[in-house]
Amino acid sequence: MPDQYKKKKKGPKPRGVSNRNKGIQWIRKNAKSGVLYFADDDNTYDLQLFDEIRYTKRVSMFPVGLITKLGVSSPIVKNGIFSGFYDGWMAGRKFPVDMAGFAISVKFLLKRPKALMPFKPGFEEDGFLKSLEPFEPQDIELLASNCTKILVWHTQTKKNEPSQALDFAKYNNTNLVMLKQILV
Ligand SMILES: *[C@@H]1O[C@H](CO)[C@@H](O)[C@H](O)[C@H]1NC(C)=O
Repeated sequence: MPDQYKKKKKGPKPRGVSNRNKGIQWIRKNAKSGVLYFADDDNTYDLQLFDEIRYTKRVSMFPVGLITKLGVSSPIVKNGIFSGFYDGWMAGRKFPVDMAGFAISVKFLLKRPKALMPFKPGFEEDGFLKSLEPFEPQDIELLASNCTKILVWHTQTKKNEPSQALDFAKYNNTNLVMLKQILV
């Protein structure tokens, strides 16, 4: 973390930005193909995830379990089509997703030389995904069986409240109904 952020006395700090940007820089210098994914030591993975993200052509997304009071963060999918985001902290973000919830094709990244993660606490994912323009939510490739499966979790050793109830009237006919069935 650069000193200017370390010295900040109030509010959250932009953690894990320098290292991810270094990783992006390394990929720009050394890779021509493949897929970039921001793994972390507090995530738990189903190996199926890696079998799925390897086919990413642009940016793929998928549900992340155990995030916020909702119990999951995911694209909303209706009849196989992206129709919004479900996340406990929308905060006016264009891409309200978790760091573990997306993967990017290296070829796609290399065509966007300015793409970087901003030092903006809470808005790292959103800022990075926005910096991939031209790229819109409609361009997202939906994995994990139309986002009905959870292949990655944010794991913490603590007691969780049960996940918040789903508004079935609002989300009827979406992937969230199936996701809700696998949440406790
Ligand atoms: C996603 O949903 C669409 C529409 O129902 C369906 O055609 C497609 O086979 C589904 N894809 C997967 C991977 O389940």
